[in-house]
Amino acid sequence: MILHPTYDINEAGHLTVAGLDAVELAREFGTPVYLLDTDAVRAQCRLYREAFREYFGESSLPAFAGKALCYKGLYSLVAEEGLLADCVSPGEIFTAKSAGFPMERIFFHGNNKTDDDLRFALESGVGHIVVDGEDELFALDRIAGEMGKNPRILLRITPGIDPHTHRKISTGNVDSKFGMAIATGQAHAFVKEALGCASLTLDGFHCHVGSQIFDTEPFEDACDIMLSFMAQIRADTGYEAEILNLGGGFGVRYTEEDPAVDYRDNIRRLGSEIDRMCAMHGVRKPTVIMEPGRSIVAAAGCTLYTCGTVKSIPGFRSYVSIDGGMPDNPRYTLYQSRYTVLNASHAADPADFVCTVAGRCCESGDLIAEGISLAKPSRGDVIAVLVTGAYNYSMASHYNRIPKPPVVELSGGKARVAVRRETYADLCAMDQ
Ligand code: LLP
Repeated sequence: MILHPTYDINEAGHLTVAGLDAVELAREFGTPVYLLDTDAVRAQCRLYREAFREYFGESSLPAFAGKALCYKGLYSLVAEEGLLADCVSPGEIFTAKSAGFPMERIFFHGNNKTDDDLRFALESGVGHIVVDGEDELFALDRIAGEMGKNPRILLRITPGIDPHTHRKISTGNVDSKFGMAIATGQAHAFVKEALGCASLTLDGFHCHVGSQIFDTEPFEDACDIMLSFMAQIRADTGYEAEILNLGGGFGVRYTEEDPAVDYRDNIRRLGSEIDRMCAMHGVRKPTVIMEPGRSIVAAAGCTLYTCGTVKSIPGFRSYVSIDGGMPDNPRYTLYQSRYTVLNASHAADPADFVCTVAGRCCESGDLIAEGISLAKPSRGDVIAVLVTGAYNYSMASHYNRIPKPPVVELSGGKARVAVRRETYADLCAMDQ
């Protein structure tokens, strides 16, 4: 096993993904290619579902955050596993709808939903709209009234926690484009306004502290702040929230240096803290929802590339160039995210070639990893970047007019194309 049960090495010295030979998969499907071990995704969905029921209560459920990975087949899988879903755009809702995902199981998010977005969500019949601010609240009340609908809503509250993660992906601070802050008194006023909206039914509150968080402490802090807020609201208005949605954020092991995460134990700890805090604040225990994205799909996915130019600059460094890069994985360019990279064709050989893995774009910052070691590759070898199941395909672009790779699902020893490779004609399809 390498990092996660999905990855291993076979007798040929090749990397295996979900038991299949990565070099053969690269030959069959071409490169770059995103692979997804859907058995591992299902196992993670079940782990979340069972642990939520056990530690948060019968009615509590995880909602898969589609921003981490979004295509029709994945929504079908998530529906089969009985999860809810978090959608952040009409595009995500449309994808879920096209896959037959039950619309009432969707939470619709976003800090700037347009009137058209709100109408689309209401027409689609999404279960909950997570209202981000006052302007949106009044717009939704008006539009729902015009359409004769009475949507269920949650209010996005900013508990003001810094989860000590990368700034660009920490969304729970007071200074945030998301939600209404408790610390400024705005959250309190927001609730009163929502309770006065004739066409809306307030079901509870939402918060999200950040992403790639390994510790349970920021979540416990968020619960404490939110439950105390709920107690104040009840004392002030008599309103008792039924749902507390704590957002996403559990971390994932990308490299050997990251800790291995025991998700079940995290949920157990959080559950007992919620029980303790509900008693402490005198609040009835709400239905707890969380929105894991990364921790459901990241570990189950990897990307295969073909090695092209290998160039060593004496006194500087060696570059290994691959046939993909920032268009299919912008995370190093954006966040300097660290990955485990292997020479999948020689995975059993000593990883002693220190190099920078560079993409094929016309841009120096197009890198996937710097200062990593792998078995020295040569042109034609298959290079694997592990743990790319989240925020890779969903963040892919067409920069340099490069078509997006396919998503190939692996399950029960078989491979199936779930999203086909884009063609050059696809790239021009919208050009008039
Ligand atoms: N719910 C809300 C309201 C969120 O904002 C997010 C992530 C999630 C759930 C899912 O969080 P997760 O369980 O996946 O950590 N592009 C960045 C990550 C941005 C996350 C934004 N919100 C990256 O590549 O690391």
